[in-house]
Amino acid sequence: MATGTATDRAKREAAEAAVAEIASGMLVGLGTGSTAAFAIAALGRRVREGLQVTAVGTSLATEAAARAAGIAMLDFADVAHTDLVIDGADEIDPAFRAIKGGGGAMLREKIVATSAARMICIVDSGKTVATLGTRPLPIEVLPFARNFVSDAVRALGGEPIVRMMPDGTPVLSDQANLLIDCRFGPITDPAGLASALTAVPGMLGHGLFLTEIDALFVGRDEGTARLERRN
Ligand code: A5P
Repeated sequence: MATGTATDRAKREAAEAAVAEIASGMLVGLGTGSTAAFAIAALGRRVREGLQVTAVGTSLATEAAARAAGIAMLDFADVAHTDLVIDGADEIDPAFRAIKGGGGAMLREKIVATSAARMICIVDSGKTVATLGTRPLPIEVLPFARNFVSDAVRALGGEPIVRMMPDGTPVLSDQANLLIDCRFGPITDPAGLASALTAVPGMLGHGLFLTEIDALFVGRDEGTARLERRN
């Protein structure tokens, strides 16, 4: 893993600050993506130093990485509640509303985040935005419903693009569903958009995380800012 750039340093420091909150005996949810990978590495180091924890992953890739780091993993299917979830985001606003799913794992990430007593979002400062929508909003879609859901996204004002591999085949989620990136422009009513999307049959999960995040750790050149949700 590259560790040289300022962005990587910011991600790593935010991740390490979050991992410092993990206490012995906790059941920890591990996020997906390059920032979460720094948290997995940091937790692996703490486990090697003697920390006793178990964890669940939010993707097959995370489960494999966490096992390789020596972390004792449970199958989330056997779990209903977690103590602390640490995960990244593609962008996040001052009210801790985020877009996730750049790595395509937002369906599992949402479930694990909702199971948690506390969720810490870890980002570098380039992920903070005033208004959501600078990046596309990923949704997970049953392949059977591809055109139906795409039309529904257009009716909501979005431009849907099926995520593709370089070889021209669609990217599939861990559940073998399609990922559709939806460009809405500035999302001024995230709650309204979230409920409109949720009402579309075949739309299995969207990347809007509006209430799940309790704390936001932002890696910056001048050190990591630790922010807590106010309400
Ligand atoms: C994975 O599906 C995403 O939700 C990631 O948490 C998000 O894309 C952030 O990824 P990076 O940490 O790689 O930017």
